[in-house]
Amino acid sequence: MSTADIIDDDYEPTINNLLEKNSLKWIFIGGKGGVGKTTTSCSVAIQLSKVKESVLLISTDPAHNLSDAYGQKFSKNPTLVNGFNNLYAMEIDPTPDQLAPEFMEESGGDLFNFKELALSIPGIDEAMSFAEVMKLVKTMEFSVVVFDTAPTGHTLRLLSIPSVLDKGLGKFLSMQQNFSGVFSAISGMMRTDASPEAIESKIQSTKKVIEEVNTQFKNPDLTTFVPVCIPEFLSVYETERLIQQLTKLDIDVQNIIVNQIVYPEKDCNLCQARQKMQKKYLDQIADLYMDFHVTKLPLLKAEVRGVPSLKIFSELLVSPYDPSNPVTLPNQ
Ligand SMILES: Nc1ncnc2c1ncn2[C@@H]1O[C@H](COP(=O)(O)OP(=O)(O)OP(=O)(O)O)[C@@H](O)[C@H]1O
Ligand SMILES: [Mg+2]
Ligand SMILES: [Zn+2]
Repeated sequence: MSTADIIDDDYEPTINNLLEKNSLKWIFIGGKGGVGKTTTSCSVAIQLSKVKESVLLISTDPAHNLSDAYGQKFSKNPTLVNGFNNLYAMEIDPTPDQLAPEFMEESGGDLFNFKELALSIPGIDEAMSFAEVMKLVKTMEFSVVVFDTAPTGHTLRLLSIPSVLDKGLGKFLSMQQNFSGVFSAISGMMRTDASPEAIESKIQSTKKVIEEVNTQFKNPDLTTFVPVCIPEFLSVYETERLIQQLTKLDIDVQNIIVNQIVYPEKDCNLCQARQKMQKKYLDQIADLYMDFHVTKLPLLKAEVRGVPSLKIFSELLVSPYDPSNPVTLPNQ
């Protein structure tokens, strides 16, 4: 076997490495606004559903668009995607508003003022609601969970919550031990009937979930992040920064999706010019990401919406696109 063969085998331009990895539990899909994160997430989920027992696709983008992509209404509870028997989708807001009522119910219906407590520890509001979601998701035991994330900044904040929060909670708890008098004064100010013990145990359990999630997200056997980009300056630049930040957070990246690649039809000046522009960035991507699985997806004539279109599109994740055999979507 030549060196070239080995390289080809190691980094084939598909997501088969993800489909074949049985231990994989959490797959994050992210990137700049509008590049195709949702289309990719839905497509990855479809391919996973063929090889896994059950798949859950979660949108953490407050501007949810799973419903748009699959052409079906979703809620904060996992709902079977039409046309599948093991693929579920849900849309959550990683902000406290949606989860606070359950949180209060769980603490016995008292006036535990979640938001005011939240103010005292940076990141705790998002973290607590994220922890609630993760707790929920874990009890449901899906084989694999795919996250369609919000544009980059938001996602990185979500992923760095565990470490930020760990410090904040640690401080909070030690402060409480040292100054239990002060603490009850604080909880008085928070207009809560919950005992300091109840609050502490709630925070302890959040801390435990966050720590566990933190450990899991940093384990490449369990978690990977798939950046999606398009071959244009800003997107390539942002992808490189994203990968650097993920590396700092110890989060694994093996795959990159390059979407919306133009394959000109004969004699189209516009498409030929776009292709020339894109080539420059495709070359950069090839140089930068030699040791990644880089999957290239064509820009199609129609939007990729609805299950039949997404099923066709998702095939391009497992067998590389051949421009001499163009893809036609049902709605095209
Ligand atoms: N390769 C493609 N060919 C044609 N249309 C595409 C392609 N990829 C995505 N689209 C369309 O482009 C639009 C944006 O894609 P998508 O919603 O997946 O992007 P996004 O990154 O999730 O956007 P946002 O940041 O707003 O969440 C959608 O209408 C989608 O159908
Ligand atoms: Mg989206
Ligand atoms: Zn053209």
